[in-house]
Order: sequence, then C-alpha cells, then structure tokens
Amino acid sequence: MKGRKLANTLLVKPNKILLPIYLTADIPHIIKYMGSKKPIINFITKAIDTVHVEGNWVCDLFSGSCSISAALRKRYNFISNDIQAYSEVLAKTYFSDLSMYDYDELEIQINDSAHIHVAWFKENYPVLFYDYSFVDSVQEYQKIELAQRSLFANETFNSDYHLFAKYYSGTYWSFEQCVWIDALRKTADNFINTPIYFAMLSSIMFAMSYTTQSTGHFAQYRDGNSEESVKNIIYYRQKNFFEFFTRKFKQLLGSLDNSLKKLDTKTLDFEKCLNSLPLGSTVYADPPYAPVHYSRFYHALETLVKYDFPKVDHKARYRTDRHQSPFSQKSKALEAFGTLFSGIIKRKAQLVLSYSGSGVVEISKIIDLANKKFDLDKYEITIEKLEYKHSTMGRFDDADRDVIEYLLIAKLK
Ligand SMILES: C[S@@+](CC[C@H](N)C(=O)[O-])C[C@H]1O[C@@H](n2cnc3c(N)ncnc32)[C@H](O)[C@@H]1O
Repeated sequence: MKGRKLANTLLVKPNKILLPIYLTADIPHIIKYMGSKKPIINFITKAIDTVHVEGNWVCDLFSGSCSISAALRKRYNFISNDIQAYSEVLAKTYFSDLSMYDYDELEIQINDSAHIHVAWFKENYPVLFYDYSFVDSVQEYQKIELAQRSLFANETFNSDYHLFAKYYSGTYWSFEQCVWIDALRKTADNFINTPIYFAMLSSIMFAMSYTTQSTGHFAQYRDGNSEESVKNIIYYRQKNFFEFFTRKFKQLLGSLDNSLKKLDTKTLDFEKCLNSLPLGSTVYADPPYAPVHYSRFYHALETLVKYDFPKVDHKARYRTDRHQSPFSQKSKALEAFGTLFSGIIKRKAQLVLSYSGSGVVEISKIIDLANKKFDLDKYEITIEKLEYKHSTMGRFDDADRDVIEYLLIAKLK
C-alpha cells in the first residue's frame, strides 16, 4: 500500500483547541433510549467540532433520541435523519422556539380537551377504569388485564381517537392510561400548525416511557405471574399519565428557545439521506450495533406519532411494517458500512462514526474497510476510544455494563 498511510487503530489525538462543554442538564430529557449518546455527549461533540468546516451542515444520520441535535442546536445548521418518525418529532421539538408560550395560558385549552375525551370513556366504559389499589392477588390482577386485552379483538369505539385504548389496554399500560394517551394525542392535533405541537407529542412520549410497566422500551410487557411482579406492575399502573405529561410539557416550554440555527429533518434510509446531503457536510453516524432491531423496542412511539392503526403481531404487539436494519444483521452489517463510507466519499463529507467494541461487526474489520475505501491522500483517518458504563435497559440481568465506544473519524485533509 505505497503512498497510503493507514489509520492507527488506537490513536487518541490530543486536542489543543478549546471546545464548549455540553452539560447534560441543558439537554431536556425526553425518552428512555437504549444507546442514547447523552452520557458521552462531550466525547462525541468534541470530535464533530474538530472536523467540522465552518458554514457547512451537520447531519446526524441515525438520530434516535436526538441527543446530538439537542446538544448542538445552537451551534450548527442541522440535518436530523432516522428511519423512525418519532425521532423526527424529537428533533423538531429540540429545535422549537417555545419562549413565547406560558403554560398557564394553555392550561384551560389542554385540560378541557383531554378531560372531555377521558370523561366520554368513563361514561361509556366505567367497568374498565380499575382502581388498582384494591388488587390483592395475582389472579385478580390477571383477570383485570385479560378483560382489558379483550378490547384488541372486539371493540370498535365510537370515537376517533381510540387507537391506544383498543391496541394496548392491559399491556404496557392500563386501559385508563391508554385513554389518556389517546386524549392527549387528540389534544396535540388541536395545535398541529403551532410550535407547541411537537413538544406535546414529545411530552406524551415521555409519559409513555415513564408509566409503562415494561422497562422503558416496548419489546415486551410483563405478565405479572408472581406477587412480587404484580406489586411492581401495580406501582406503574397507578402512575398518573396526565401528571407526567404536564410535568414534561412545562419543562420543555421553560427550556426551549430559539436555536437561531436551521433544522432539516428526514425519515430516510441512511443511504438515501447521504445521497441528498449538501457537499462538504459533517456526518455523525451512530448506527445500531446490537443484533436486535430498534423498531422492535420503540414501535409504540412510532404508532403514537403515525396514529395509523397499523397491523400488529406477536404478543408484544409490534407493527408488522417495522424496519429491519442491515446494521443489526451479521450477514449484512459490514456491507452497510461500505455503503456508508461510499456515500461519505461521494458527498465529499467528513465522518464521525460511533461504534461499540461489542458490536455485530468487529471494530478492526470496520477500520480495515475504511482504510480500503477512503483515499488516504485525501482523508485522514483516526480512531478514538472511550470506556464507559452503558445502560442495558433491562435487556440483560445487569443494569449496566462496561463498554468501549470507538470513534472512527474521516477528515478531509
Ligand atoms: C444507536 S441508535 C442512535 C442513537 C442516537 N445517537 C442517540 O443518541 O439517541 C441507532 C438508530 O438508527 C436508526 N436506524 C437503523 N437503521 C437505519 C437505517 N437503515 N437508516 C436510517 N436509520 C436507521 C434506528 O431507528 C435508531 O434510532
């Protein structure tokens, strides 16, 4: 390989430029998200800051919970892309200017709309509004949940907004909590062309994330087969959905002001998004690294946003149209990295790629591929690494694990 300098696998570049430190407290938290980069936000943004060319766009190609757009919203014109529609809502929320809104002035409108909806359901389905504080046995709990789940097959509610009541009662949420999700979704639609629309949807997502009886994602709900698990589930069943919604909504109104930067959002496959990028963009890529599909964990958020009464399957009630990412499939992942590198080269872009040391593809294979694909006379490739604790969000027995995060940085010389 004459004339081509290969990337040094574990080279950590000293950084002499003074860069801003992003405090996670300044990034309003919205959803519990596996693999959110919030805990290591400064490691990532420092790399983006150092490769970025002033005046160009920054693109977060796999934006997920949008921690990066939240951190950089005041610094760069930003393109946020993810195949999932809920991620677009989160990006639009973080870039909203809500400084002119005061919750007290919106309270009556929001309260009235949501409470009228819930009151209609209380009047028509009183027996499905259970007081969980009286549930004192596993059998009693399971009887209640089964009665709610019978709505999947039978009920055609005489109300436009009943998706969650019909699809999810007695699963992740109780019937009552589902009626609140529908009520607030309906209320958000009253504000559809205003800046608070996205903040309202995000606040519903926050409440869904924190009231579900599962571990904050929606890969499966718990059956409640033992006294101990029923006790814990009842704790979640008693959570007041509206209270969670208003708490987050007030926080967003109080913290999101004009970013003074432009936002463009896309819900494209990464390859299509890359092809549409302005030349010279800085791309941050954080593709999935585990052999499980994100769409299986966050389908309920997608359904909240689309509100499209999808076909669902499996006990966990996944959308049948859920996305299958090549990055989560061992047979396809390395090829997908090749597509990613080609797209970057075509757009004369700079790349900061995040990947875990325990991903579907070994990091050494990705580095080898980068060395083959990039013209090393034009691009400088460096690798950085960081060891940190990563939340498993209940996917494994341990609450968090030590992981190594790698950054592969391809910078135009
Ligand atoms: C590791 S997560 C990104 C996490 C994000 N950086 C954060 O801090 O929240 C990976 C994301 O890639 C998205 N994704 C997976 N395959 C994709 C594809 N082919 N095109 C676009 N997005 C994809 C998933 O929906 C998921 O949100």
